[in-house]
Amino acid sequence: MPDTPALAHVAIIMDGNGRWAKQRNLPRTAGHRRGIEATRAIIEACVQHEIRYLTLFAFSSENWKRPKTEISVLMDLFVESLQSEVQSLNEKGVCLRFLGHRPGFSDGLCKQIQQAEELTRTNDTLFLNIAMGYGGRWDILQAVENIVEDVVHERLAVEDIDEALLEEHLVTHGIPAPDLFIRTGGEKRISNFLLWQLAYTELYFSDILWPDFNPDELEKAFENYRVRQRRFGLIQEQLA
Ligand code: FPP
Repeated sequence: MPDTPALAHVAIIMDGNGRWAKQRNLPRTAGHRRGIEATRAIIEACVQHEIRYLTLFAFSSENWKRPKTEISVLMDLFVESLQSEVQSLNEKGVCLRFLGHRPGFSDGLCKQIQQAEELTRTNDTLFLNIAMGYGGRWDILQAVENIVEDVVHERLAVEDIDEALLEEHLVTHGIPAPDLFIRTGGEKRISNFLLWQLAYTELYFSDILWPDFNPDELEKAFENYRVRQRRFGLIQEQLA
């Protein structure tokens, strides 16, 4: 029986809030509200399962193209959630980090993000990364721009550029690559999430809409992951 693969980092695309609401003749924003409740339960379950890193895709670079009213409600919800959740996350020992670029976020939201990061900086029960204003292509591009700048100013030589160096320049620097990627809501795509980091991540897709994705569904994803064999490009005999 092969060893159970280690599970330190779980990354999730929380999809299906809008459809959950539509099925109930509710406005999409009602789905986002229920989505926040589901998020709270999943964070708690990850703490219980002693997951070290959890990365949630809350708002992509492409989400800026949604109707203005929906963006505005989402931004209000982010502000509200930070106000109501940060204290209890801090008490649980959760360390919060926000991944992404912030142009477009209100000054108030930026300030709350900064305060949440500062308050929880030394916590280490669960490292919770919220990808907001994030896109995988943007992340790789900003890393490349920074590296080129270092080369132009002769702080780096072209020969110094390798995978480890590029990783150091990604916004996820210091965070190990995800072991398990989960996408809810039935779609089977990565949608510009952690493009570099997911190279050898195990993928799991659930048809459950995010507001209905509960700790039992999370456990199903973990069960499914536990019987996977991760080879990282090697052959089975080499792993033994
Ligand atoms: C996907 O549903 C979800 C989002 C666009 C992000 C919003 C996520 C939440 C409100 C969950 C809470 C998260 C945090 C960290 C506060 P969708 O609108 O794409 O659903 P659809 O595919 O059914 O239209």
